Amino acid sequence: MKRSAMLAQAVRRLQAAGVEGAARDARLLLRHAAGLGAAELTARLAEEADGAECRRFADAIAARCRRQPVSQILGRRAFFGREFRVTPDVLDPRPESETLIETALARGPAARILDLGTGSGALMLTLLAEWPEARGLGIDASPAALAVARENARALGLEARAELRQGDWLDGVKGRFDLVICNPPYIAEAELEGLAPELRDWEPRIALSPGGDGLDVYRLLSNTLWLHISADGAALFEIGYGQASEVRKIFTNSRLFVSNLIPDMNGVPRCVIVQRRHSIGKNPPKGLESAKLGLSSPQHRV
Ligand SMILES: C[S@@+](CC[C@H](N)C(=O)[O-])C[C@H]1O[C@@H](n2cnc3c(N)ncnc32)[C@H](O)[C@@H]1O
Repeated sequence: MKRSAMLAQAVRRLQAAGVEGAARDARLLLRHAAGLGAAELTARLAEEADGAECRRFADAIAARCRRQPVSQILGRRAFFGREFRVTPDVLDPRPESETLIETALARGPAARILDLGTGSGALMLTLLAEWPEARGLGIDASPAALAVARENARALGLEARAELRQGDWLDGVKGRFDLVICNPPYIAEAELEGLAPELRDWEPRIALSPGGDGLDVYRLLSNTLWLHISADGAALFEIGYGQASEVRKIFTNSRLFVSNLIPDMNGVPRCVIVQRRHSIGKNPPKGLESAKLGLSSPQHRV
């Protein structure tokens, strides 16, 4: 069958399965099956696909009709300009999580990084790649996720500077870090069933929700995280939609405080900068350099 006909048929199937962006996904999956770049595929749409390509494409479309995310079908996802291996064992790194990276880069290089809930390793490995002198410790409860993170560290040539360890948040973590990054599971239990099938049925539940109102990881870490942040250091947390004021309250009741809140590309408050209380005055919270990030509206300040 000609690729153009395969594509048209696949778009109809994906639309019938309720997939948003069916045409875009069908094209991406045909490129994957054919092993062609975007321009090459356009130029060769009129060609007949061989049997192997047809089978690869049919399998990929069937998986997408079952609402498996495209990144899992392709086995990879681009994050902050680098390719990361993605499997059903890890959260698919999200574009909005790049806000944590931009915020960290705006603060300047950190020598020691701690990544809590590292998943695919996308956050920590991106920072290690950007900061050649930095070393990182990534913690995750899931051995399967850590295997993916190790694969990503190897592929990026970062394994010598990236320690990846199984653990339960801060249990067994020793010492202080210049930068702690954490994108915890934060979806409230009651919201899980209403999620898109791509998340609800295919992403690891442990990566999505800690149960309850979704805020338990912030509560837990607010107790002892201060012990692991260096005097001038900071922790950057990702938060979910509408969680900013609750998260601020959680840290206000601890030995830490929220120094700033950075919005993502859609203007949604996404990254919370947390610092140790005693560092106020000694070193002005670096998170307040919001002008650098193009943040001027007081509504973003906490
Ligand atoms: C939202 S995902 C973040 C993954 C990755 N950092 C990212 O931003 O793409 C949360 C991660 O926390 C991990 N996690 C869940 N419970 C944990 C626990 N008790 N201790 C350590 N990690 C945990 C999950 O396995 C998952 O990889």
